[in-house]
Amino acid sequence: MNAVEMPSPKTPQNGQGELALITRLLRDYIGGRLGAAICAVLCMVGSAIMTGALAKLLEPITKELFTDKNPTLLLLIPLGVVVVVIVRGAFDYGGSALNNSIGQSIVADVQRDMFRSLIRYDLERLNAVHSGQFVSHFLYDATLLREAVTKGIAGLGKELLTAIILLGVMINENWRLSIASIVTVPIVGWTARSLGKRMRKATKQSMKETGELSTSLMEVLDGRRIVKAYALEGHALERIETGIARRLKFLIKGVRARALSQPLADFLGGLAVAAVVLYAGYESLHGRLEYYQFASFMAAMLLAQQPIRNLSQLWSVTTEGIGAAQRVFDLIDTKPQIVDRPGAKELALAPPPLGTAVRFKDVRFSYHEGAPAVAGITLEAPAGKKIALVGPSGAGKSTIFNLLLRFYDADSGRIEIDGQDISTVTMASLRRSIALVTQEPFLFDESVRANIAYGHAGATEAEIVEAAQTAAAHEFITALPNGYDTIVGEGGLRLSGGQRQRVAIARAMLRNAPILLLDEATSALDTENERQVQEALNRLMKGRTTLVIAHRLTTVLDADRIYVLSEGGVLEQGTHAELIARGGLYARLYQREFQDNEPVSATAG
Ligand SMILES: Nc1ncnc2c1ncn2[C@@H]1O[C@H](COP(=O)(O)OP(=O)(O)O)[C@@H](O)[C@H]1O
Ligand SMILES: [Mg+2]
Repeated sequence: MNAVEMPSPKTPQNGQGELALITRLLRDYIGGRLGAAICAVLCMVGSAIMTGALAKLLEPITKELFTDKNPTLLLLIPLGVVVVVIVRGAFDYGGSALNNSIGQSIVADVQRDMFRSLIRYDLERLNAVHSGQFVSHFLYDATLLREAVTKGIAGLGKELLTAIILLGVMINENWRLSIASIVTVPIVGWTARSLGKRMRKATKQSMKETGELSTSLMEVLDGRRIVKAYALEGHALERIETGIARRLKFLIKGVRARALSQPLADFLGGLAVAAVVLYAGYESLHGRLEYYQFASFMAAMLLAQQPIRNLSQLWSVTTEGIGAAQRVFDLIDTKPQIVDRPGAKELALAPPPLGTAVRFKDVRFSYHEGAPAVAGITLEAPAGKKIALVGPSGAGKSTIFNLLLRFYDADSGRIEIDGQDISTVTMASLRRSIALVTQEPFLFDESVRANIAYGHAGATEAEIVEAAQTAAAHEFITALPNGYDTIVGEGGLRLSGGQRQRVAIARAMLRNAPILLLDEATSALDTENERQVQEALNRLMKGRTTLVIAHRLTTVLDADRIYVLSEGGVLEQGTHAELIARGGLYARLYQREFQDNEPVSATAG
């Protein structure tokens, strides 16, 4: 099961065998830390030997002190115990510190690799990523891997060896008694396993609920304005409370199973002790067991209980870890579909006075099987000209931008920039040549300066200020509490819509790309803001090839050519005057706009 909600329509699940997964885990994440892992194992081996020594020491201790009553040993023996305990402590410290740092570094590596892969996903796949689920798996699967690795190392280095050494001590003291006690081991193992299963199931379900809860939380926070405006606080509260309650239910299930494990193990341990005592009495009556042997045997047996319990968990952590590794590797292995072709060249742009031209030749594209979003579009944006795409919503205007940016690849036809097919040039050079301004500009929760500087890495302060000035943003920025250093808030929400848009325009200005795409850049703004932003845009357009999608036709009256789109095709084209004269769809849309608003006032976004 792929618990990370990644739609994978094109990449098949590469169901790797468990052995292959473990091999890869060892190679990719432990290989580089082999030295540390070996040291950890050695420390743990040392600790196991010390534990065995402790149990074995009890025999001479009991014998010397209680039977032979040897006074010289009175001080020596406690001293010996202290030394053993100190050495064991040192080994434990080294083993545990090394082991856990390996584990935490693996978490960090896995998370880095997961994100590295995610950020390169195609837009389509990124759109479909369930953010809350991703975050909870991002945190959780990496932790499961850590558990499997650390418990695995500890299991190999410590628990198994301790159990074996202690068993050796027990057999050495009395082998018949050892057999009597070993009988209980499978029972302990079995109960631990079935409890582990219950815990795992509860954990899995609570993980799913955690993911859903975090998605709901993000949604409510993202939609805070709607929540407030529509007085949906009660509804939001109800949704979150339900999520919290569902999560709690599974958490408690897990807590109960976990709480049961200790007393149950103690009970079984007690049973084993009782069985051994019973048999020991029988052995003693027949003169086959001395009390000091019994003391050492009991010590070894009691000391063996914890390692055995840990070993029985090893199975469940390992299977969980393998499940997590499967999901993590699936995510990491998911490759973007839209990549540079082998031998892709840098896009060669014509030098400034010539400018850059864009051309679509009979381009077809559909997002899904069925009706195409773009059905045979041919259009041309000559160098330095402004062309407009208008038409009803859903006509395919934004899709044309998506194709030009290669967010998606066209199904057929050709898209050219200065005569070069965009599918044959590198993505980086293609996207460098385009600046996109959308209806809802996105700002990162950083300073205004940083948000503008995203347009061009390494821009100087003077360039940033100049870009802001041209974008009519400099004045309001300097009036902000910290000027260019003002942090804009999540999504830029501390700025007004018009201010955000002007910051975005300054960013595009700094990018200084020869092609400019405006997707309803002013349609979310009121008239006053629209005028300011429009002026900034006009300055931005100067000398660039501009494709503009306009909600309001007044903003495209001066376009060199207007394409009227409908249902994925070009219905009409021409200048404003030509299209009005034609009396078609454009003329009707234009008339309607002026009937509704005199001349143009705020329009619903
Ligand atoms: N990411 C997407 N996945 C699936 N279908 C989409 C996607 N984006 C747009 N569409 C569909 O493609 C068609 C054209 O959409 P779009 O280009 O956004 O139209 P416009 O920008 O002209 O309003 C519509 O039918 C729309 O539902
Ligand atoms: Mg659109």
